[in-house]
Amino acid sequence: MSGATVDSRVTLAGIELRNPVLTASGTFGYGTEFAPFLDLRRIGGFVAKSLTLKPRTGNPPPRIAEAPSAMLNAISLENVGVEAFVGEKLPALPDDVVVIASVFGTEIMEYAEVCKQLTGVPRVAGLEVNASCPHVKSGGIEFGQDPRVLADLVRSVRRATDLPLLVKLSPNVTSIAEMARVCEGEGADGLSLINAVQALEVDVETRRPVLQNGLGGLSGPAIRPIALRMVWQAARAVDIPICGIGGISDAADAVKFLLCGATAIQVGTANYLNPMAAGEIADGIASYCEDHGVGRVADLVGALESF
Ligand SMILES: Cc1cc2nc3c(=O)[nH]c(=O)nc-3n(C[C@H](O)[C@H](O)[C@H](O)COP(=O)(O)O)c2cc1C
Repeated sequence: MSGATVDSRVTLAGIELRNPVLTASGTFGYGTEFAPFLDLRRIGGFVAKSLTLKPRTGNPPPRIAEAPSAMLNAISLENVGVEAFVGEKLPALPDDVVVIASVFGTEIMEYAEVCKQLTGVPRVAGLEVNASCPHVKSGGIEFGQDPRVLADLVRSVRRATDLPLLVKLSPNVTSIAEMARVCEGEGADGLSLINAVQALEVDVETRRPVLQNGLGGLSGPAIRPIALRMVWQAARAVDIPICGIGGISDAADAVKFLLCGATAIQVGTANYLNPMAAGEIADGIASYCEDHGVGRVADLVGALESF
């Protein structure tokens, strides 16, 4: 079935999306790179590569590697910086594409300043604060692993912007419910989870890590059941909406996240295998609904049978 009769619209942290499918930060460039393959108006929107105050180069290669049903990366937040994003990248996008800017900093002041500079920029619908990069030497994962530091971060960025504010959480924690509650308590409008899982792969010939950086982040289908478990736990812990991320490769994967309580989802590593994946997943969710007598995609959210 085509899914044409289904109402696919959802509202995530106050951001109205034509359907629940976004592309994940760092896996979809600045949007225009994918334009030859996918009409961005087919998806709910996209989350841009994490931005820092100044342009930043990433780690030296090798910085990506294959793993079973997954990939490892240690790109380390290479980006054009907030000024070039606003001045050059945003204007290149079609007008009616929902853009969520991802924010990173090596200290809380930097996060807050990037949020300030993005606030009031007409094309930016919301912010996603990356509190969870698993392979930078300072910042990132540290902010997402200690509940007190996370609280300080969310409080500061909340003061810096009145845009819808999502906080992207790390899976590398003992209690995702605790971290979710911290963000809700400090005024986050929503949560995105999960970022990549901290990981290590070794070359037995060189006896060195395969990545120049040593540690990296694992993403792709191998992490999906971990992500699903964490989304389910976070959704039970807080009332703010959740954007589910982790190994989503097809519409059935996406529906699982919606059932576990995600209001929307993001497609990451799958974009590399198939640059049309996000569009196909959006269409596939609507078809699933039509085939199962569900009139509105929003009705799937949290509809998992209790167990
Ligand atoms: C190459 C690469 C670069 C990434 N860069 C970022 C980034 O800049 N900011 C961020 O929040 N997440 C980044 N991520 C994490 C993804 O957004 C996503 O959370 C993670 O890959 C899990 O989803 P997936 O399994 O669908 O890829 C990156 C992931 C990959 C594979």
